[in-house]
Amino acid sequence: MNQKSKILITGGAGFIGSHVVRLFVTKYPEYTIVNLDKLTYAGNLENLKDIEDKPNYKFVKGDITDAAFINELFSAEQFDGVIHLAAESHVDRSISNPLEFVQTNVIGTVNLLNAAKQTWGCNKDKPLPTDKRFYHVSTDEVYGSLGDEGLFTEETAYDPHSPYSASKAASDHFVRAYFDTYNLPCVISNCSNNYGPNHFPEKLIPLCINNIKNNKPLPIYGKGENVRDWLFVVDHARAIDVVFHNAANGTTYNIGGHNEWTNIDVIRLLCRIMDKKLGREEGENEKLITFVKDRAGHDLRYAIDSAKLQNELGWKPSLQFEEGLELTVDWYLSNEDWLNSVTSGDYKKYYEGLYQDR
Ligand SMILES: NC(=O)c1ccc[n+]([C@@H]2O[C@H](COP(=O)([O-])OP(=O)(O)OC[C@H]3O[C@@H](n4cnc5c(N)ncnc54)[C@H](O)[C@@H]3O)[C@@H](O)[C@H]2O)c1
Repeated sequence: MNQKSKILITGGAGFIGSHVVRLFVTKYPEYTIVNLDKLTYAGNLENLKDIEDKPNYKFVKGDITDAAFINELFSAEQFDGVIHLAAESHVDRSISNPLEFVQTNVIGTVNLLNAAKQTWGCNKDKPLPTDKRFYHVSTDEVYGSLGDEGLFTEETAYDPHSPYSASKAASDHFVRAYFDTYNLPCVISNCSNNYGPNHFPEKLIPLCINNIKNNKPLPIYGKGENVRDWLFVVDHARAIDVVFHNAANGTTYNIGGHNEWTNIDVIRLLCRIMDKKLGREEGENEKLITFVKDRAGHDLRYAIDSAKLQNELGWKPSLQFEEGLELTVDWYLSNEDWLNSVTSGDYKKYYEGLYQDR
């Protein structure tokens, strides 16, 4: 990227996107950062209150599934780079409405690829542009499920099991196809489960923080034996910065914390942290744990090998899980207004009419 680059970040009002927007707006004042978001239930501009007045930041409300709008936006703004995070991201929602995941995650991604290809004049007969970049942010869920042993590497064959992971896998394939077919300068990263501030409270950790606070049951799928590899969201944003600026075109990097936990152990740790924070007796919060019927197609274990990223580009996670979880609990306990507005949907009403809808 050159000094004056204009970068489009899609899904910047969501959980991970808001941390990526904040990092880029503050670390690179010379860039112009355009945040494109439809503001679905998962998008919330409150996440970006602290940087919304920065001169190098602009918000555009819009839908990546609207090809005509995306083409117009690219033609007007002439972006140099794209960091694409906008997606439908909740596995349970993908089970009840798979088509919405195809629309947003597959068609939406192809619309962005087409617009970038057109704007940058990409074509197999021409050299690949070296000052442009399309970065697709993906998930380790495309690799499927592991047994007790082994790790996902960048060479692991795709084997998605849920409509969510299938839609993300399809979008990854399209990105690689645009690199191979049209010389579009692309990179992809596949990251493990994120946690941290601004996580929508339908996901395991924020849901349980909210329920513990309100003395409500903590619903755990099956016996809580599913293993996930947790990474603090700011460490993911740091990795995206490193990959965006340093990876070679056509490459893929896995991002993860080498931090495997069964769901039940995560929740027990959370209960212990919150016993102390809320001044409750040791073991009191654990009594809220309730096992519920397992999710269909629930992958048993995800664990990511991020050695390539660490060895080639020098990134590593900055926080231990216990530290990051404590920071996360502190953030939720001191941001009750955010949590209450998100759970009540009030923020949607607040923003209605403020921005031109598309
Ligand atoms: N959360 C994780 O643990 C995790 C891990 C690895 C990869 N990822 C990937 O990172 C990305 C971001 O995940 P997240 O957890 O922040 O998701 P999120 O659901 O919190 O945010 C998604 C954002 O995309 C926006 N969006 C949805 N549909 C849109 C559309 N049609 N047009 C424009 N904007 C739209 C939403 O309004 C929201 O702001 C996704 O691509 C996801 O697959 C997530």
